[in-house]
Amino acid sequence: MIPVGNPAVGNDFIDREKEISLILSTLEKDSVLLIAPRRFGKTSIMRKLEKELLDADEICVFLEVEDVNSPHRFISEIVMALIENEKIERRTRLIPAFKNGFQWFKDNIEEIGISVFKAKLRTNIKNDLKENWIDKTALIFDIINEADSKICFIVDEFPIAIEKMEPKDAEDFLHWFRKLRQVSPNLRFIVGGSVSMDRVVRNVGGVSVINDFKRVRVDGFQKQTALDLIEKIFQEEGWTYVPSYGEKILGCIGEAYIPYFIAIMLSAIKEEYILRDGEINDELIEKTYNFRILGNEGKYYFEHYSQRLRIFYGDMEEKAAIAILKNVCNVDCYPVDMAFGIFKRETAIDDYEQFMDLIADLSNDFYLEHDPENGLKFYSKMLQDWWRIYHGDVQ
Ligand SMILES: Nc1ncnc2c1ncn2[C@@H]1O[C@H](COP(=O)(O)OP(=O)(O)O)[C@@H](O)[C@H]1O
Ligand SMILES: [Mg+2]
Repeated sequence: MIPVGNPAVGNDFIDREKEISLILSTLEKDSVLLIAPRRFGKTSIMRKLEKELLDADEICVFLEVEDVNSPHRFISEIVMALIENEKIERRTRLIPAFKNGFQWFKDNIEEIGISVFKAKLRTNIKNDLKENWIDKTALIFDIINEADSKICFIVDEFPIAIEKMEPKDAEDFLHWFRKLRQVSPNLRFIVGGSVSMDRVVRNVGGVSVINDFKRVRVDGFQKQTALDLIEKIFQEEGWTYVPSYGEKILGCIGEAYIPYFIAIMLSAIKEEYILRDGEINDELIEKTYNFRILGNEGKYYFEHYSQRLRIFYGDMEEKAAIAILKNVCNVDCYPVDMAFGIFKRETAIDDYEQFMDLIADLSNDFYLEHDPENGLKFYSKMLQDWWRIYHGDVQ
């Protein structure tokens, strides 16, 4: 069975060849921003990229920054990751340069490798950077740039770290980070996170602080890939596979074929199969979808989509978004001018441009798709089914 939540690595990792090769070729010249909501497969892709880069003998450092809440902590994480990287020690002169440049390194150099001293070093770096982090960091990155070797940083959950920083710190940090990318020909960053980066930077620096990143969207699998995955899991589980089962399962999930949605569906089928001691057939698949995925148990699968509106959208936007989604979830396609009518009613703002900004946000956050000919529709059938049950009561 594929993991239901944890990143898919090793043999569990399926497909994504196009995304991986696009990102690797982009890295020749640019840094990359991976865009997708929670559970779409960003961390799995980042882990795969790490492996590909390491296999190609590149220097690559993976950072998970969900708990970082200040610029100096962010930078101390980078420095620690560099110090701990054995390839960096072997291939660059970074470590001796750090040793010459910083007291915190001299004090601890003999003890590196022993975890308790690493913790001490981390604290020392953090304390040292607390005051004047911009000036002190300049020296750190002068040293890193002299390494004369390409270094790729993969930074997971970056927008969460930015959000946790004090607004002034976040703004200074984003400007500093932008400049760092400009002046460092050897550094590349693959940055990802589940909350919309555009929304997070809107109040701290604006999109100009991230507009040099090449954006790569993580969408669903192609249908055939999804069918192959389902067949593979059936075989692994020792269940008899008939092609119509694959079609039936994908019919329930609908497009987009997000791997996580397939994973929760298959693991629910497994539970149903074991509990009922039954056989897998169309009826069991349908029952699983209607009663497990869309039933009580499934309530929390998509709850973060409605929370995200509350947390990241302004009050007016949230109100208008909820009212629009409430109507769009009941139909295949919803006319844009009717959605504009809802917007005007909910916000008392008669401004088409502002309305279209909201539609763009809802599209970028993977709620809706806007087809200029047919109107608005949900990005995912499964999310639409869920939304209809929990948020779809039309007044
Ligand atoms: N390439 C993949 N192959 C197989 N399953 C995947 C893949 N990508 C994502 N998944 C499924 O999605 C879940 C979440 O993946 P993850 O990479 O943690 O997403 P994110 O970082 O976007 O939240 C995994 O537990 C797995 O079920
Ligand atoms: Mg992740």
